[in-house]
Amino acid sequence: MSYETLKEGLIAHGQEHLIKYWPELNENEREQLAGEIGKLDMAEMNTIFRRAMDSTKVILEKTDDDLKPIPESHYESVPGLTKEKIQEYENIGFKEISEGKVGVLLLAGGQATRLGFGHPKGMYNVGLPSKKTLFQIQAERILRVQNMATESTGKEGKITWYIMTSEHTMGPTADYFKNHSYFGLNEENIKFFEQGTLPCFDFDGKIFLDKKHHVSSTPDGNGGLYRALKTQGVLEDIKRRGVQHLHAHSVDNILTKVADPVFIGYCKSKNADCAAKVVSKSTPSEAVGVVCRVNGHYKVVEYSELTDEAAERRNPDGRLTFRAGNICNHYFSSEFLRKICDYETKLKLHVAKKKIPYVDENGVRQTPSEPNGIKLEKFIFDVFEFAEKFICLEVARDVEFSALKNSDAAKKDCPSTAKEDLLRLHRKYIREAGGVIQDNIDVEISPLLSYGGENLEDLVKNEVFAISPFHLKSIYESTTNGVNGNH
Ligand code: UD1
Repeated sequence: MSYETLKEGLIAHGQEHLIKYWPELNENEREQLAGEIGKLDMAEMNTIFRRAMDSTKVILEKTDDDLKPIPESHYESVPGLTKEKIQEYENIGFKEISEGKVGVLLLAGGQATRLGFGHPKGMYNVGLPSKKTLFQIQAERILRVQNMATESTGKEGKITWYIMTSEHTMGPTADYFKNHSYFGLNEENIKFFEQGTLPCFDFDGKIFLDKKHHVSSTPDGNGGLYRALKTQGVLEDIKRRGVQHLHAHSVDNILTKVADPVFIGYCKSKNADCAAKVVSKSTPSEAVGVVCRVNGHYKVVEYSELTDEAAERRNPDGRLTFRAGNICNHYFSSEFLRKICDYETKLKLHVAKKKIPYVDENGVRQTPSEPNGIKLEKFIFDVFEFAEKFICLEVARDVEFSALKNSDAAKKDCPSTAKEDLLRLHRKYIREAGGVIQDNIDVEISPLLSYGGENLEDLVKNEVFAISPFHLKSIYESTTNGVNGNH
């Protein structure tokens, strides 16, 4: 694009300040800046800014009257189901896996800012005996569940793993998987793709320059998934492979049952197009979003948007009325995804006022001490309201949810709680399989051996576990990955 064309386009949309320092830039810098500007549709950016600002005027009021919990007909709870029902759902899930109809959408584009880790969060090792990272744990769960599907159906299980990254996490994530030989998974069945970005604006809608040759931008939120699925060819790939069910989840929950056959089976048997796994809120004030209905539409209402009365309301059985805590763990049919991706431009924009570093009118980079502009994000759950059949599956928190968000200083949702929650769950599995273990003994069970507590009896029945830390492994696992025990 010539300088004149660039300038004309920018003037037409009131963003000409972006090339103010053009005369000072060298050839490479000019190329970079022109490239970044060229990727932005300025008319669309101005619309986005206006739409975002308009939305802030509406959401300030707390939601109350039109708020309803998920109807019982659309809600099941795994701890409340019979073993037979769980088995039934699981078998349906295994069948879909063995027919190659299941895919996983891993949301791994976040920047792990709260954790303070300079790499993609999936590369974090919380200090387990095996030293496995979140990525490795999830990869091995996929391997195990594929094997379980094969055992159950006699047909080889195959799951496609779609990993969403962002401009900051794409390179290191792809390299990490390659350097670890894809953790034993077939490289063919792993697809990395990159979510988009949105520019950062000042309060008047002017896009900030982060450097004289670099536009200020951030990843477009985990709801950027829908645009990326379309623009990065993932929807096409889903179609080509015949994938029909997508399990989407965050990268940071160390207990995630990846490609959970029970969840898939539940959604398939209810003919759902969209679903959410939830955990019961621990207290009325727990700061998680709540899955509920607002004006008849399924939504996640942020904790800050709930009145105290609604947050504390209880059913006659004493349980919280609005207890369906969102854990960023969702189901989409491929058909629903195709439909949504066609109108993702209408998705709500969430506005955060932030302190955004910028190059001022004198060419000096400023780091403000007060919020000076906005960052925009789309949220993955904002598509719930477009579902024709939305359902929820409540799962036990101690079995399925422990998120890694903060550093240990926060003492909450941090590496030590993630590690402890996983080891506590594994002690429970050992006891259920007839092993003897005290609470002060740390035994980690490899996902290659057991996905959800199965397959342990032969190994642990009547065994007393006294060595800590200990790594209970599959016979196929190498003995050299930082472990101190083997079975
Ligand atoms: C998320 C949920 C929240 C839920 C909580 C439970 C959303 C919008 N919010 O909040 O309702 O109670 O998890 O743990 O889903 N990500 C990207 N790209 C981005 C931003 C994030 O891929 O641009 C990924 C992250 O890597 C992570 C996931 O999305 O895997 C969740 O993002 P995060 O920012 O951690 O959301 P929370 O605020 O924790």
